[in-house]
Amino acid sequence: MEKTSNLNKDTPVNHSILESIKNRWSPRVFAHTPISEQDAKKLLEAGRWAPSASNLQPWRVIWGLKGSETYDRIFNCLDEFNQSWAGNSQMLWLNAFKKTMNKGEQENFHALHDLGLFMGNVVHQANSMEMGVHQMAGIDFKKAQREFQFTEDYHVTTAVAFGYFGGDPDDLSADLKEQELKETRERKSQEEFAFNGNFQNK
Ligand SMILES: Cc1cc2nc3c(=O)[nH]c(=O)nc-3n(C[C@H](O)[C@H](O)[C@H](O)COP(=O)(O)O)c2cc1C
Repeated sequence: MEKTSNLNKDTPVNHSILESIKNRWSPRVFAHTPISEQDAKKLLEAGRWAPSASNLQPWRVIWGLKGSETYDRIFNCLDEFNQSWAGNSQMLWLNAFKKTMNKGEQENFHALHDLGLFMGNVVHQANSMEMGVHQMAGIDFKKAQREFQFTEDYHVTTAVAFGYFGGDPDDLSADLKEQELKETRERKSQEEFAFNGNFQNK
């Protein structure tokens, strides 16, 4: 399998963590190696076993492999920026969650949280298979809702691009190529988001 030289970016951790968490990042170019249906199902299986509030499993996924009609239909729901690179991927997903519980009588306040946990599992399973994942908020939600016939009870949230690490950064615009090849990654410090006492608005 072809690989890029930048598979491992510089991730300056202050405490030692799992290598698979440290090494994950979101590429915008991918190897041309196709993703098999079996590998797609492995990723869905990893998500399937995520925890969720009351085990309601509110996540829903439309998935399409490159070359399929579903892939093209998902691609057509991406915004212009994401369309500029996401065609490099070998698989696209459209993610949604069920908004209600108790037969539609009550809002499931934790559904978006649970979809995030689902994707956390998927991302780390993919990384262990040397597959990159790039999640996208930049989609036309209403168009996607109509296109895939989601009912009112569901909220379409995101699309996701998948592909094995590899590919040629020259396939990107100059701006995106620079981001792709940037070696150092940045995060807030723990002090900015974690408080051993009262919340502080930082
Ligand atoms: C919910 C979500 C939505 C995102 N939306 C987009 C998007 O529309 N387009 C894009 O290029 N990247 C998008 N990203 C990728 C983030 O910009 C990226 O995860 C962040 O900069 C951290 O980089 P890393 O994943 O390489 O560590 C999104 C990520 C998440 C989790």
